[in-house]
Amino acid sequence: MEQQRILDLLGEMSLDEKINQLFQGCGSFYTEGSVATGPASEQGFSEKTILEAGSVLSVAGAETIRKIQKHHMENHPHHIPLVFMADIINGYKTIFPIPLAQGAAFNPSVAYTGAEVAAKEASTAGIHVTFSPMVDLVRDARWGRVMESTGEDPYLNSVYAKALVEGYQGDDPKKPGKLGACVKHFAGYGAPTGGRDYNNVELSERTLRDDYLPAYDAAVKAGALLVMTSFNTLNRIPSTANKWLMRDILREEMGFEGAVISDWAAIEEIKNHGLCEDKKGAAKLAMEAGTDIDMMTTCYCNYLKELIESGEISERLLDEAVLKVLELKNKLGLFENPYKDADEAAEKTIMLCAEHREKAKEAAKETFVLLENSGILPLKKEEKVAFIGPFTEEKSIIGAWSIFGEEKDVVSIKEGVDHYGANAIFAKGCDSIDPGKEMIGMGPRYACRRTKKEADAMIEEAVEVALKTDKVVLCIGEHMAQTGEAASRGDITIPKQQKKLLRAVARVNKNIVVVLFNGRPLDIRKIKELAKAILVVWMPGSEGGNAIAEVLYGETSPSGRLPMCFPYSVGQVPVFYSEFHTGRKLDYSNLDNKFQSRYLDIPNKPLYAFGYGLSYTQFAYSEVRLSNNLMEKGDELTASVTVRNTGKQKGAEVVQLYIKDDCGSVARPVRELKGFKKIWLEPGEDKEVSFKITEEMLKFHDINMDYKAEAGSFTVYIGCDSDTDNQATFNFI
Ligand code: NOJ
Repeated sequence: MEQQRILDLLGEMSLDEKINQLFQGCGSFYTEGSVATGPASEQGFSEKTILEAGSVLSVAGAETIRKIQKHHMENHPHHIPLVFMADIINGYKTIFPIPLAQGAAFNPSVAYTGAEVAAKEASTAGIHVTFSPMVDLVRDARWGRVMESTGEDPYLNSVYAKALVEGYQGDDPKKPGKLGACVKHFAGYGAPTGGRDYNNVELSERTLRDDYLPAYDAAVKAGALLVMTSFNTLNRIPSTANKWLMRDILREEMGFEGAVISDWAAIEEIKNHGLCEDKKGAAKLAMEAGTDIDMMTTCYCNYLKELIESGEISERLLDEAVLKVLELKNKLGLFENPYKDADEAAEKTIMLCAEHREKAKEAAKETFVLLENSGILPLKKEEKVAFIGPFTEEKSIIGAWSIFGEEKDVVSIKEGVDHYGANAIFAKGCDSIDPGKEMIGMGPRYACRRTKKEADAMIEEAVEVALKTDKVVLCIGEHMAQTGEAASRGDITIPKQQKKLLRAVARVNKNIVVVLFNGRPLDIRKIKELAKAILVVWMPGSEGGNAIAEVLYGETSPSGRLPMCFPYSVGQVPVFYSEFHTGRKLDYSNLDNKFQSRYLDIPNKPLYAFGYGLSYTQFAYSEVRLSNNLMEKGDELTASVTVRNTGKQKGAEVVQLYIKDDCGSVARPVRELKGFKKIWLEPGEDKEVSFKITEEMLKFHDINMDYKAEAGSFTVYIGCDSDTDNQATFNFI
């Protein structure tokens, strides 16, 4: 539709109609059985509001959506279609690995493909917009939502943000099989104090700009249609009421022209944060700040009229917001085609089709991170191996945000190994949830009703099985429901009964391979002590079992690298590689000196560093070569290394470029990731890997908050992880 026609439409709409266009209600207002993704405590929506609403969340299915849309358009005064939005995070029906795992692939095409498949399936089911990507920078493993992010690094997150938006939207979200992307949660949601979900965030403006904003910016620049506000306060101001964030930074500086949607009930929560006394006050603050769509509260629909009629806010603000919603519908082509791709017939063939499953399996294989291997992996197909542990059969490995994905469609490890034709025996050993415990708020499905005695008997049975084979693959980890939204944890180890199982098996069999399921970095010191190999598989998705079997048996070498440090213990958290210099840097050769920046009882270094991961083969690096050791303003340098596969198998190496600003007008990080390349090498093969170093890569917010590169010396590191010492220096003049 032409822009003028949209403006005309806006002009024809009544005040009520315009206000209701900003309302987003959940699917249960329209149909039974839709998923609620937030507390449904909020009531008081009038029938008129629902009838004139602008969008709906969390409903799916071509037939259902067609029905709702038809009814809505017939009854709406201007026949304006609804936009259907939902959380399609790592897949719709074919579930890919969780986003944190995708970050571990260090290969943005994994995320692109996952988003492309998700868009195809979800759009066929009638959905128009996904609440993804979540690009929040995360450094605190206690926060359950780290699983939804691609990790701790601004550069890695930015590369993935772009890939995800492009995967969902293609070159035009209007086209068949595409979705509009909604970037979230703006801003700083990934840094809640104490790692507790929904908690406040305090970040200096410099840290916000240097580390947290780049990924949102990358998603905006990639053309994301929407941005979602975050629940948190940022430096005491709730994001949803933060004019500076949304008007100055997002719209002015980043140039975002799409619609801003609140997170679930976040407008009303402005009141809970103590910034206003009532919902009316919350509506005023959110509207002034630039929040266009109100997800699931009555703040806008019940109070905006009063605010406008009393002159407390101008109708111009409302019109601006409504225009954004109408433009969104137009960008999705809904005025011409309100049902977009909803197609019942295609739904039957496309969901979980062989092609999508194959892509999900290949993606999963790239995300696994081999942390330890003292020669025990890969397994041989003929050798008899005992697979023990709750995750041999667990099907909830699609992750906490797979709201339309179904566990019945998941390939478990047992099925994957059987399908692979390996010589394996199995024992569950224990449940993934401790005996007598339930996952808070998850109902009876995620609970373990077994008594301690029954649970211990299962361990004994598993020990008998462990005695029958030379090697044991122990499949353990955290339960899916221990991760995700509202799943912060103060203890980031695996559940108690699983620890008991590990100890019991280790007493009778020393050849243990741990396959670790997790939605966050865990404290795995005990596992490290008792296992000969550790393979981190995160929440690998629908094809998890097949992917794990193929990697364990060496068909593909593991090639994932950690997108977040694995802490030594929770006491270090938040721990991340790009920390700042301190005045008293720990001198490891003089640990008797107390007055250094250190802990008395634990090391400073994480157990496993950012970027770390092994392969079944080994790689050797040449020294770093620089095309010049002087770089002038506006110039570029090339930094290169030669990497050789010195082992006996094909494998992938993630060649990582870090830069350290040796001296700055403000304290600078000890190093920062500025590039990476994943290369596959045959045994004996070598490749030259080069990176361009540009002035842009040296920029930061200086003492005056100017974004620029300062003259001086820089150290360039190229190696296999964030600890590499392979370096060269140049001067920027
Ligand atoms: C709350 C979550 O914070 C957000 O990520 C999600 O998109 C919305 N609920 C809608 O389900």
